[in-house]
Amino acid sequence: MGELQEKELAARAGAELVREGMVVGLGTGSTVAFLLVALAQRGLDAVYVATSPSTQRDALALGLVVKPFDSLEHLDLAIDGADQVAESGWLIKGGGGAHTREKIVAAAATRFVVIVDSSKLVSELHAPLPLELHAFGIAATLEHLGSTRRRDVARSPDGGVIADFYGDVSDPATLARRLSSTPGVVEHGLFAPDLVSEVLVGVGDEVRRRTYGGAP
Ligand code: A5P
Repeated sequence: MGELQEKELAARAGAELVREGMVVGLGTGSTVAFLLVALAQRGLDAVYVATSPSTQRDALALGLVVKPFDSLEHLDLAIDGADQVAESGWLIKGGGGAHTREKIVAAAATRFVVIVDSSKLVSELHAPLPLELHAFGIAATLEHLGSTRRRDVARSPDGGVIADFYGDVSDPATLARRLSSTPGVVEHGLFAPDLVSEVLVGVGDEVRRRTYGGAP
């Protein structure tokens, strides 16, 4: 089975976790695109929060009820893709530049479920690591970070500059602390295992499930 079929299998398994009445965060990307279709087919009475304008547009077009994430305090579930999933449970996200909103949504959810095809599984994380940076002082922030290049894409919906860190990412805990304490960094794409409840991986024609520190 190919990558697309594996994405669809994982996404369909993710969609099965949604129950009537839930408030659910929706990630961004090609795997989430399959999730949206599967959710629309289920026709549940659920409310959704989107992590990007593209997800919002696609979800609305499929008839899902999407609410702004400014007054909801809590989500029952969030489902999203990832660029890399290490055995330790650390993720790299932000290939689509949406990692800031994705992390806010994941952190607000009781259960954060990651849906990926098997190509996303890695023994160790590797660069590039997506970043969102403040536009103010961007040259100084890039100099401070080192090994970082702006990505030639539009600003984030929140006005941030999307960039990628090409340095060593083999110690994600230390790097995450460093990036979080660097002025000018809005958010980085390292997601810690304690944020992740489970990872649903499409492998061939089956879905394998891994649970991590964020499991409720
Ligand atoms: C979006 O910014 C990313 O975090 C995506 O979740 C990630 O890039 C996975 O995308 P695909 O499902 O398209 O591989």
